[in-house]
Amino acid sequence: MIASSSCQIMRSLHFFIFFSALITTYSTSTAVEITKGINGLDKVILRQTQGSGVEVYLYGAHVTSWKNGQGQELLFVSSKAIFDPPKPIRGGIPICFPQFSNLGTLQSHGFARNRLWTVDNNPPNVTSEVANGVFVDLLLKPTEEDLKIWPHRFEFRMRVTLGPTGDLMLASSIKNTDADGKLFTFTFAHHTYFSVSNISGVEVKGLGKLDYLDNLKNRERATEVGDAITIKSEFDRVYLSTPTEISILDQEKKRTFVVQKDGLPDAVVWNPWEAKAKTMADFGEDEFKYMVCVEAAAIEKPITLKPGEEWKGRLQLSTRL
Ligand SMILES: *[C@@H]1O[C@H](CO)[C@@H](O)[C@H](O)[C@H]1NC(C)=O
Ligand SMILES: *[C@@H]1O[C@H](CO)[C@@H](O)[C@H](O)[C@H]1NC(C)=O
Repeated sequence: MIASSSCQIMRSLHFFIFFSALITTYSTSTAVEITKGINGLDKVILRQTQGSGVEVYLYGAHVTSWKNGQGQELLFVSSKAIFDPPKPIRGGIPICFPQFSNLGTLQSHGFARNRLWTVDNNPPNVTSEVANGVFVDLLLKPTEEDLKIWPHRFEFRMRVTLGPTGDLMLASSIKNTDADGKLFTFTFAHHTYFSVSNISGVEVKGLGKLDYLDNLKNRERATEVGDAITIKSEFDRVYLSTPTEISILDQEKKRTFVVQKDGLPDAVVWNPWEAKAKTMADFGEDEFKYMVCVEAAAIEKPITLKPGEEWKGRLQLSTRL
């Protein structure tokens, strides 16, 4: 009697595990969650079964967290970051659009990072690559107020995907939706802040022998002499026509970030160092030691879109030991 009932329990337990496995495999709803973040701002959380996760705020379509399967944070966000629109968030992955830095008449880095984006619940073109990952599509269209400062209608779609092995993909498409035949021109960057254990032991690889514009010397053009870039003081350079892959070695952690990109030929490398850090209200005095920005960008040759035309850019971040 006892034996047979425990056997029954075992059987139903097996069924239970079998069905739970089915539910876990086929239910994607638990992998994408929209919730409240800091100051009640909406954020989307993407989770993978192997433990990795991504958080993206609708404010700015701003990725503020990317964690690996061990729960380690891979992006830097300042302990003094302010989550209070229209202040941009210090850290993570701000979007610079339609203007990088002060290369135009708009506020620094444009306005996309200061706007509330929306979630597209009916995303187009869900390919098998995307289907294997967990993703969310975010959309930005100009408001009437935006059109007063930048008189161009556009649709900016960014698909944020957390891949099956924890890679983070940002696939952007920007379309000129002007009806009156006007073209527009923009510059762009994913201003990624990577978390590092000690800036003194960081090497950025893939930019050796390339030309760059030195933002600390009025964008004077120069050529990088070394193979690997090390940072020992304030650093702010736009490397031009860079390869599709750049890597960042964190010697102390024995970890390498791999940046792969398409449609984004330039790469900005930035660290404010000590003196500049002291002038930034939303950045801790010592935090320059624990971050480096390596930004996939289109800066030197601005992108022009005719009405109906679309531009695509893609950034993929991964790590290897
Ligand atoms: C979706 O696919 C269509 C047709 O191939 C293409 O024109 C469009 O640019 C794609 N949209 C996105 C957001 O990738
Ligand atoms: C970073 O590395 C440098 C050089 O090895 C060392 O002098 C410094 O103490 C380290 N800083 C921290 C915060 O570990």
